[in-house]
Amino acid sequence: MIKVITYGTYDLLHYGHVRLLERAKALGDYLIVGVTADSFDQARGKINVQQSLVERIEAVRATGLADEIIVEEYDGQKIDDIRRYGIDVFAIGSDWQGRFDYLNDYCRVVYLERTDGVSSTELRAQQRNTRIGLVGELNMVNKFEAESHFVNGVTISGFYAAEQSFLSDAIVNLPLKATSLDELLDASDAIYIVSHPSLHYRQAKQALLRGKHVICEAPSSLSASEWDELQALSKEHNCILMDSIKTAYSLAYSRLLLLAKSGKIGKIVSVDAVCTSLTDLAMKQGKDLSHTWNSMCQWGPTALLPVFQLLGTQYVEKSVVSHYSDEHEGFDLFTKASYIYPDAVASVKVGKGVKSEGELVISGTKGYIYVPAPWWKNAYFEIRYENPADNMRYFYQNDGEGIRYMIMSFLQSIAHNRHLTYIQPEVSRAIVGEIDYFTHSGKVRKI
Ligand code: CTP
Repeated sequence: MIKVITYGTYDLLHYGHVRLLERAKALGDYLIVGVTADSFDQARGKINVQQSLVERIEAVRATGLADEIIVEEYDGQKIDDIRRYGIDVFAIGSDWQGRFDYLNDYCRVVYLERTDGVSSTELRAQQRNTRIGLVGELNMVNKFEAESHFVNGVTISGFYAAEQSFLSDAIVNLPLKATSLDELLDASDAIYIVSHPSLHYRQAKQALLRGKHVICEAPSSLSASEWDELQALSKEHNCILMDSIKTAYSLAYSRLLLLAKSGKIGKIVSVDAVCTSLTDLAMKQGKDLSHTWNSMCQWGPTALLPVFQLLGTQYVEKSVVSHYSDEHEGFDLFTKASYIYPDAVASVKVGKGVKSEGELVISGTKGYIYVPAPWWKNAYFEIRYENPADNMRYFYQNDGEGIRYMIMSFLQSIAHNRHLTYIQPEVSRAIVGEIDYFTHSGKVRKI
């Protein structure tokens, strides 16, 4: 009996897949189909897959062509499978021409002509096309635009900045450089806001009132009452309103949260996060900082994320200390906030005028999680124990610093009309609450 094996994702199964399976089957007497596990696809950067593993397996089964279906979970598994199942022929589409020649050492390798004019990617893109307009500062806008190309079903409709000088160097290949937010909203189903934090509330409100979805760089407003108002508006107008904190969507960070919550380091007693960056030349040259994000707005949401996601938002006491710029009223060069919970403590240090080690340490009764600097975009972390021999090291591919996963979540939330965000609403509100306290309470201690 000649045994044939082939592999694929088989998302939204189409006739290109069926034709390939038919021809693969015809190469022998028994066909084994390997369907990729979700985590395997994610790790190799295939992030748009719409159907779950079970749905994709069911679709392959329904073709009646597979004699056996297996799951592909790790790199190098093909060699294992060929040996384990006594495979004679490995078949794959011609889009992989040459890539699997190394399997010739184990069995015959056959590349089958790929069917023209159909692919899962195209089918996914046809299912929806969301036009996202970009609002605000250039650097993040450019990153967002670049990352949107990795996500199926999104087009960038244009760009608007309240600060018109940004427009001059704006992204060259965008279809629209709008002169008003309304003009951009006309051409968009949704907007991404990364303007100065003082503008977020007004711009988000304007979009929601027009029934447009919003993803806004956190903090989405500077006061808790504005946040509540925006939430109410989003419900009233049936729109998604989502915080953008890219770290929340990075694979390493989201896995770290799960590991921490699953008791790997025992009970969590302390969370300490540091985020600093000394990139703002404007500050050094003593220029006007009215368009520059202060330390708390720039880094507070990211640093507070692990605190609130691991310890909750119900702390009993806090103290906030800031070192302010002499020249610029209200601009904190450095802020340290400490939180006391009934059974834990936390601290965040953020700075745009002070440099420190940007690490995250989560301390527990059995061990601690250590994420080296810059923790907010690091693909690597360790769980460390008293006995170093027990230490565990973790690495997760973190393409695009989490931005493309964030865009995916936003689109899926729009498509399913419910929040599929990694940032729980109570966390989002608590973050705005801290910014509100920092900005308006007058209780921040100055040093
Ligand atoms: N295939 C094919 N003809 C097509 C599409 C896919 O022969 N038009 C083959 C691929 O070469 C592969 C198998 O079907 O051997 C499974 O491919 P998969 O990656 O699941 O399908 P794609 O449509 O290529 O998916 P995507 O667009 O996500 O890359």
